[in-house]
Amino acid sequence: MTRTLTLRRPDDWHLHLRDGAMLRAVLPETSRHFGRAIVMPNLVPPVVTAADAVAYRDRILAALPEGAEFTPLMTLYLTETTDPADLRAAAQSGLITAVKLYPAGATTNSASGVRDFDKVMAVLETMAEIDLPLCVHGEVTDPAIDIFDREAVFIDTVLDPLRRRVPDLRVVMEHITTSDGVDYVSAQPDGKMGATITTHHLIIDRNHILVGGIKPHYYCLPVAKRARHRDALVAAAISGDARFFLGTDSAPHTDPNKLSVCGCAGVFSASNTMSCLAEVFDRAGALDKLEGFSSLNGPAFYGLAPNTATLTLTHGDPVSYPAHIQTEDGPVTLFDPGFPLHWRVAS
Ligand code: NCD
Ligand code: ZN
Repeated sequence: MTRTLTLRRPDDWHLHLRDGAMLRAVLPETSRHFGRAIVMPNLVPPVVTAADAVAYRDRILAALPEGAEFTPLMTLYLTETTDPADLRAAAQSGLITAVKLYPAGATTNSASGVRDFDKVMAVLETMAEIDLPLCVHGEVTDPAIDIFDREAVFIDTVLDPLRRRVPDLRVVMEHITTSDGVDYVSAQPDGKMGATITTHHLIIDRNHILVGGIKPHYYCLPVAKRARHRDALVAAAISGDARFFLGTDSAPHTDPNKLSVCGCAGVFSASNTMSCLAEVFDRAGALDKLEGFSSLNGPAFYGLAPNTATLTLTHGDPVSYPAHIQTEDGPVTLFDPGFPLHWRVAS
């Protein structure tokens, strides 16, 4: 008998859609399976004002395939000059769903991020007052800190002090990659904190990047850590704990930009994420927890209803996805989980 799994249509709580030709190429890959996505604002230049967010949302809506049922949830990129009044109006009109904090220099297109947290306190207090969540890229940028330690150090030196300064602010620690991240979020008693976990961080560890030749397509930020950290992420994702939810961090870069002497960070996983996740949850004997992780916990954190539509996966012969998608800017390589995918999206 064919095994099938029907879920509420999932959402992606951390996604890079880019702009222009790349947006047109990658958006259908997400809108095919996902109902909504939190859209990252790290364009060049970044999406910093309400006017920027309106214009970007209109470009996304214009690029949607005919008949797609997909809602982009917009974010603003927090800078040291963000105007609390502009942000408040953007939130209250329903234009934005969250604000994104990048420590300056932490990752791709983060040069306009925050250096001095004192300069953003008024904005963070406004956000706490209107209950607008802050999505955090949780890595320190101090060149003296080893890249594999940057998440753990961020928790102790930035995130925890920030939460103590603005205790009512709701925070999503994004794309957690360590057991430290899992432990910190799990220890928060007050429902003020959530965490997204990517598809690829549930599958790869740092050996995938570095053993048997360097594999630039597995390089992303935060960089994948030891296997025991990957295992802690899987345990959190399948635990049923509502603080953990899917944010693919699907981050397309063209192959020439990945396969370079200074290759870009980012894994593109929009197309095959649901097949990958079903495989991971099935192997862990936790298929019954997939709907919570991909379709229920995120909306609950954001105070939104789950999607009413559903998505059905069926188990069978391995499904093949194209190795690349073509864009006018060049090919983008799809995430290779390194094992066969038996779960296909049926409808
Ligand atoms: C992201 C990108 O390419 O925009 N890259 C990545 O490795 N995840 C930026 C980010 O989310 O850090
Ligand atoms: Zn990202």
